[in-house]
Amino acid sequence: MNLKLKIWRQADAKSSGKMVDYNISEVSPDMSFLEMLDVLNEGLIEKGEEPVEFDHDCREGICGSCSLQINGEPHGPDRAITTCQLHMRRFKDGDTIYIEPFRAKAFPVIKDLIVDRSAFDRIQQAGGYISVNTSGNTVDANAIPIEKHDADRAFDAATCIGCGACVAACKNASAMLFTSAKVSQFALLPQGKVEATDRVTNMVKQMDLEGFGNCTNTGACEVECPKGISLENIARLNREYLKASVNLD
Ligand code: SF4
Ligand code: FES
Repeated sequence: MNLKLKIWRQADAKSSGKMVDYNISEVSPDMSFLEMLDVLNEGLIEKGEEPVEFDHDCREGICGSCSLQINGEPHGPDRAITTCQLHMRRFKDGDTIYIEPFRAKAFPVIKDLIVDRSAFDRIQQAGGYISVNTSGNTVDANAIPIEKHDADRAFDAATCIGCGACVAACKNASAMLFTSAKVSQFALLPQGKVEATDRVTNMVKQMDLEGFGNCTNTGACEVECPKGISLENIARLNREYLKASVNLD
């Protein structure tokens, strides 16, 4: 396949960026999207030009770092996959593909297609954990019986990989789906109930401090989430927040 790529190039956080055109030929349909970018970069390096910077690590849908906006959609046109799981067979010979970084005020561009998603780390640090007694009297987590239904829903919430597609998909750049997944994975388990009030209060506070927008129930986040995190988590976050507000008063 021969393709035209329009890629966002930006030298650093302070510079303004622009779309730059590249032609790439002999792209195999069996290549992953990131392998196609590798080939592009090899060609640029051979010509003495700067390669396109993009984030990646596991390349198997686990780490959440390969965050690209492809033809206007986070992680590209397919559902329930990350960019590294997208294959070139999804495109056709002669296509033009627009490749941009995730766009959100709280995710500033570091270079080209790489954005700073440390805002997510700070939301997580604000409450996305449980305190455990490590004095030698630790209770084995498996000794606490948990209903299968709750265990399954907690596990589903815990599959969030922190990629940020939910923010990039949202017209308000809201981080509600991410934060709700991180709150839900504990809210459903007995171990999470002890610090539930502080957890939801502090995580929502940090989410607002980072400059993410509000949720207006559009649902684009759920559609674009590669892990199928459900909107029911946002409803649970709202219930947890309401309960916490009543407890605080
Ligand atoms: S909720 Fe989905 S889209 Fe958002 S960070 Fe988690 S995995 Fe990514
Ligand atoms: S590189 Fe890890 S999820 Fe894509």
